[in-house]
Amino acid sequence: METPTDASLPTLTESVDSWKGSSLLSVTQITPAGLQLLFDVSQEMRQIVRTKGGDNRLQHRLLGTVFYEASTRTSCSFQAAVMRLGGKFIHVDGQGNSSANKKGESLEDTIRCLECYTDATVLRHPVHGSVGRVIQMATKPVLNAGDGVGEHPTQALLDVFTIRDELKITANNDKPKLTVVLLGDLKHGRTVHSLAKLLAQSKMTAQLTLQYCSPSGLEMPQAVQDFVAKYYNVTQQPVTNLAEAVATADVLYVTRIQRERFASGDAYEQVKGSYVVNNEIMSQAKSSMIVLHPLPRVDEIATEVDADPRAAYFRQMENGMFVRMALLALVLGVAQK
Ligand code: CP
Repeated sequence: METPTDASLPTLTESVDSWKGSSLLSVTQITPAGLQLLFDVSQEMRQIVRTKGGDNRLQHRLLGTVFYEASTRTSCSFQAAVMRLGGKFIHVDGQGNSSANKKGESLEDTIRCLECYTDATVLRHPVHGSVGRVIQMATKPVLNAGDGVGEHPTQALLDVFTIRDELKITANNDKPKLTVVLLGDLKHGRTVHSLAKLLAQSKMTAQLTLQYCSPSGLEMPQAVQDFVAKYYNVTQQPVTNLAEAVATADVLYVTRIQRERFASGDAYEQVKGSYVVNNEIMSQAKSSMIVLHPLPRVDEIATEVDADPRAAYFRQMENGMFVRMALLALVLGVAQK
């Protein structure tokens, strides 16, 4: 089965009807107005959680969460999201006691099985392209929770929601100039692939500068750079000096070196610990800069930074649940907009 091109996927717009029943493979499906709709619903979800814990709009609805790779945040925030809206979930651990792992069942058959019982599936898989293949055959919404080194669209959605929230960027204000430093394993980091694309296409900035800071051999893939280059108001710059880059940044987005993507332990050992964001690095940054990280971290942000008010990564993690609540409400047709 061919991996679908982005053009074969539904476009998600300001119309709630465009989201209902749709799958999400890539951030490229989402128009700027569609992003605004999702964020409006996310704000509403945050308000609902903070005032009354949740509601019952997904009562009697079931979500399948199918993870063939380790996860804490993505799996738990989707599960919390559906339960906060009155629904329930079934979890399949593709690495654990599942027929996929123990009996050799195919990915496609596993999803066919889940679709018999549930209303939508959240899927993470280590093979780039696998989630796209599943979306082609699925009869119910499938949400990409990370496909190998491809994309992690819901992470980018919560990242951009957090950037807007922290930097007070709204649809009504003048569009800002924004400099974002993407630091770390940009080759394997699917979150930065989605984030660079989403920031470029979002139209939320007057001018966007993406600075890529990575160890040698772990640069941002050319395909992502080519996508971003289509947007006239975006500048892409490779940088090597972290302290210099941080001095001009509005957002420092840190990623870990993805040990599990390396062919050998030796290759990982050669680049691990290449960079550490610590209080000394933070002393070079603007007082308004924020630090984000999709998490989990290993050692690339020293824990001493956690107490810095500019460390926004735990707030970012919480935002993941609100954005995923909004996404579920939209694809399951219960968003009240
Ligand atoms: N950010 C993220 O995808 O975290 P998990 O791997 O814990 O889901």
